[in-house]
Formats: sequence, structure tokens, C-alpha cells
Amino acid sequence: MNTPASILSAISKRLHLQPDHPLSITRQLIESRFTGYKYHNELFPVVSVKQNFDVLEFPLDHPGRSRTDTYYINKETVLRTHTSAHQADIFHANESSGYLISADVYRRDAVDRSHYPVFHQMEGAKSWDRNCLGSYSTLTEQIWADVTKIPSHTIKVEDLNPTIHPERNPLQLNYHSVEEVEAMATHLKRSLEDVVVTIFTAARAAAAAAGDTAALTQEPLKVRWVEAYFPFTSPSWELEVLWQGDWLEILGCGIVKQSILNNAGVSSRLGWAFGLGLERIAMLLFSIPDIRLFWSSDRRFLSQFSAARPIQLFVPFSRHPACFKDVSFWIRSTSSGAGGQAAHASTWDFHENDVMELARDVAGDLVEDLRLVDEFVHPKTGRKSLCYRINYRSLERTLTNEETNELHGKFRQQLVEKLGVELR
Ligand code: DAH
Repeated sequence: MNTPASILSAISKRLHLQPDHPLSITRQLIESRFTGYKYHNELFPVVSVKQNFDVLEFPLDHPGRSRTDTYYINKETVLRTHTSAHQADIFHANESSGYLISADVYRRDAVDRSHYPVFHQMEGAKSWDRNCLGSYSTLTEQIWADVTKIPSHTIKVEDLNPTIHPERNPLQLNYHSVEEVEAMATHLKRSLEDVVVTIFTAARAAAAAAGDTAALTQEPLKVRWVEAYFPFTSPSWELEVLWQGDWLEILGCGIVKQSILNNAGVSSRLGWAFGLGLERIAMLLFSIPDIRLFWSSDRRFLSQFSAARPIQLFVPFSRHPACFKDVSFWIRSTSSGAGGQAAHASTWDFHENDVMELARDVAGDLVEDLRLVDEFVHPKTGRKSLCYRINYRSLERTLTNEETNELHGKFRQQLVEKLGVELR
């Protein structure tokens, strides 16, 4: 068990279902582009290691499985780190050829204005049944017919790589034909391009309505497909969007590993899946500058959004002052006694995510940002020293000096008690 109470308390929030919450509006906007799909929005976040990793064929040494990255409830149970944890179960239930899952997911991670240990993802999948061709003579023909039903768009799409690359992005040779994968990949890409067009057209309209003249003169929307790797798809891709001059990664996707469908008892089906982060999209859709705001119960935040209105840009309330404090410490070294190690080799039983989490545990959402600013190894003793800079700032009020000093004092004390560091 490495899951603090502050994280468990997020389970009941279900922001993606709160009426008029920006995450809920974003979810509905995307759902509206997948008519006929079944929406799963109430799946509980406690899942088995099997569901989250094993059935998706994560290798046993995948870093995502480690206690430094994932919240464990016990040895076999975790807070889901992604919505893909439900893929196999939903394929097994076999209730619809297309589905979407929206849900809260949990990851031990850095703390900053765009990272929060709880966030929301949407997963989608579409599959076809080899045994249900209807009036078509081949599955490929049926998939191409479905491609024609996707709304067309006029945006610029860069897609330089071949659909299949024998080493970098292989076909599942034993299961799929090149023609089937070409058809599924096109269906997948057109469906997701349609989502991106919808989102970014709304975002630009909102920016223009807010008087952002740059939004009106911006060059046309541009997206690109790049090759990717996921343990549970092959071939795989990521979709990136050119947004305010930078390529922004929007989602991951690919052709579902046939072994997953076969093990789920639907071996006659084949298809695609994708996963995207709702916060990232909502932040640019509404121009929300800090991920902590999604968790705010402040009326000045929540009253700005309505599912009944077109998307409008968030108007930030005045920012309160930042308060920077440093902490420096020696970390505990555990010299490895295992044979074969060099005499001086010492390892550090220390992970940055533990520092991040302690800060969150002590000061909650008052931590805006925490980063390593200095590190050095003592030339004689071999001990390692780290210095972290933490920025305390409230989104809602100005913090007093006493208050931040007290928080920082507690944080320092916890570093000693929980991580065994020696303060400098
Ligand atoms: N689960 C992946 C993540 O959290 C996202 C993802 C990638 C989902 C590819 C998918 C997929 O269904 O096919 O990063």
C-alpha cells in the first residue's frame, strides 16, 4: 500500500461527470463525434494488476509497474493508471462494436502546472466481426464502407510513414492482412482527425469570441501522425497538433493486439483503440492555465463553464503571489552487498516521486511546483546531496508567511521521517 489518503479522497469526485465542469463538457464534445458507440463513464478506479498491466501485455520489468510510478492498494490491486485497464473486460462483454470509456486515472508523477497525480482519460475502441460480413464479401470491404460514413474535413494532415513498418511498426502477421490493417488504420485516423477538428475549431472560435485577434489570423489547423509503441497495439501511432507554434501530443492509438481480443473470448473480432488525456485538451480548449483549477470548488472558476453555451475562454482571476522555499539534504545511501559490484558502488534508495508526494501530502494544492535545482556528490565521502525548490501558491488567496513557513517545516520534517534523508 503506497496510496495516501489525499489520493483516495479524489475517487469520489468524478469530475468528468459533474454537470458544467470543463472536463465533463470536453468529454461530451468528444462523445458527440462517436455516435452509435457505447459510453462507459462509471467504471470504478480500483483494478487488479492483471487488468491494468498483465492482460495488456506490459513486460514484467516495465517501469509503469513500479511502486514509484503506480499507487498500489495491495500486491495485486492498484488505482488504474490508464483507462486501457478496462479494454479486455469491455471486449469480453461484447455489447457494442464501438465504445468510449471516460474515467479518473492515477499516477505518481512530477508536480507542476500541467501534472497532477489524478487526471482523466478517454479510451475508445472500434472492432469488426469476421463472422458478420452482412452484404459485404470481405471484412476489408466492410471497413472501407464504414470509412465513408466519417465526416470529411479539410485540414492539413502530415502522415509520412508507411502504415506498416516491419521493424518499427509491425503487422500482426499471424492474424491480420495488410489490406485489413490499411482499412482499419484509415478508419482510426479519420475518426480521430474528426475529433481534433471539432475540438480545435471550437477552441479557435472561443479565442476569436474573446477578442484574440491572433486566433483569427492563425495559419490553418495542422496535424501529424507519428509512429509510436504501446505494449497492447501494433502498429501504433500518436497524433500531434500544431498549437500556438508547438507540436502537441494529443493521443496514442493503434491496432489492438489480437491476443487481447482472443483472450477476451472474441477471437472473430479485430479493431483499433485510442487513449487521450482530457485535462490537456480541456486546458487548451478553455485556456485553463493550471491543472489544479479543475479540482477547485471556487465559484469564480466553476461558474464560467456551461454545457449549454458554446465554449468560452476561461478568464483567470488575479494570481496570488508565489512563495519559493528551498530544502537541501543528503540522501541515504544503501551500499549494495551483492557480489560482482565494484567496491565503491553505492545505490540510492530514493525516488523523486516520493518527494513530490510528500509535498502534496503536507500542503495539498498549495504546492504549485517542485523541482530539483541542485545536486552534487561529495568527492570524498561519495554522499549525494540534493536541493529542491518548492513554490507555494494558492489559487484562491494570498498565503501568509507563517503559514508557508509552517508547511515547509512540516515538509522538511517528513523528508527526514519518511525518506530518511539528512537535512543540511
Ligand atoms: N493507455 C495509453 C496511455 O495511458 C494510451 C493509449 C494508447 C490507449 C494506445 C490506447 C491505445 O487504447 O491503443 O498512455
